[in-house]
Amino acid sequence: MQLSLTGKNVLVTGGASGIGLACARAFAAEGARVVALDRSVGSTDIHALPAIPAIHTVRADVTDEADLGAAVAEAVSHLGGLDVVVGCAGISGPVGTPLVETSAADIAAVLAVNVTGQLLLAKLTYPHLSDGGAIVLLASDSAFVSAPGMVPYCASKGAVVALTRALAVEFDRVRVNCVCPSIVDTPMARGDLGDAALDQADFPVQTADEVAGHVLYLASPPARAVNGQALLTDFGYSARSGFPA
Ligand SMILES: NC(=O)c1ccc[n+]([C@@H]2O[C@H](COP(=O)([O-])OP(=O)(O)OC[C@H]3O[C@@H](n4cnc5c(N)ncnc54)[C@H](O)[C@@H]3O)[C@@H](O)[C@H]2O)c1
Repeated sequence: MQLSLTGKNVLVTGGASGIGLACARAFAAEGARVVALDRSVGSTDIHALPAIPAIHTVRADVTDEADLGAAVAEAVSHLGGLDVVVGCAGISGPVGTPLVETSAADIAAVLAVNVTGQLLLAKLTYPHLSDGGAIVLLASDSAFVSAPGMVPYCASKGAVVALTRALAVEFDRVRVNCVCPSIVDTPMARGDLGDAALDQADFPVQTADEVAGHVLYLASPPARAVNGQALLTDFGYSARSGFPA
């Protein structure tokens, strides 16, 4: 399939690590011009990225409106406009900690990055997006399913699904969709679960490159009829009935 992303101007948050880094590389490989934005605490320092000529890097915190606004302005100036915005910046917070032992500060931090950060990204980039452009946000299968010790993260990702649908209604010039993957092998997942859990996983694990493929499709002209959707990629686990048949 022709994704027709050549020459598109793309901004990716969380672009220094994991899924964001895979998206930045995948868009560049399709011939897009990419700005990767990150606060740069991931496994790959953002300054390592300019080795890829099509990827320009900018440092910003998505929870800080002034900081993010300046970075968006820099991206728009560098690219000459925006066609695609991808929101990958996110944190897992105190995964594994029961809610009754979780501080208000930890809850607020998860919501600030995962929810407010995506809202600010949409708010600040929409005026610069071309007609027919696309926003793709990283939610998670945690918007729909959970394990104990994930309440703030699940709440934040449920909010991303809801805000995606609301943005798709409010933003009439661009499409807005989100991707909801199950476990992806990234520094975030390895930090939360440990290397052994992923190296000897007895559950299906996606690669960041696979998720980037889903993001690129949703951002591409062939997906022009797809709007306000949450693409749940979980190997079908959430479709399974509790009935033991
Ligand atoms: N890894 C998984 O299993 C998985 C599954 C479903 C959804 N997701 C979501 O995918 C997205 C990417 O996750 P990942 O696994 O690649 O994680 P990651 O930790 O490898 O990368 C996340 C990046 O976001 C950046 N970031 C965090 N807070 C930021 C902020 N305030 N401002 C700017 N940048 C910030 C980090 O510096 C990091 O580079 C997240 O939203 C995550 O919730 C991950």
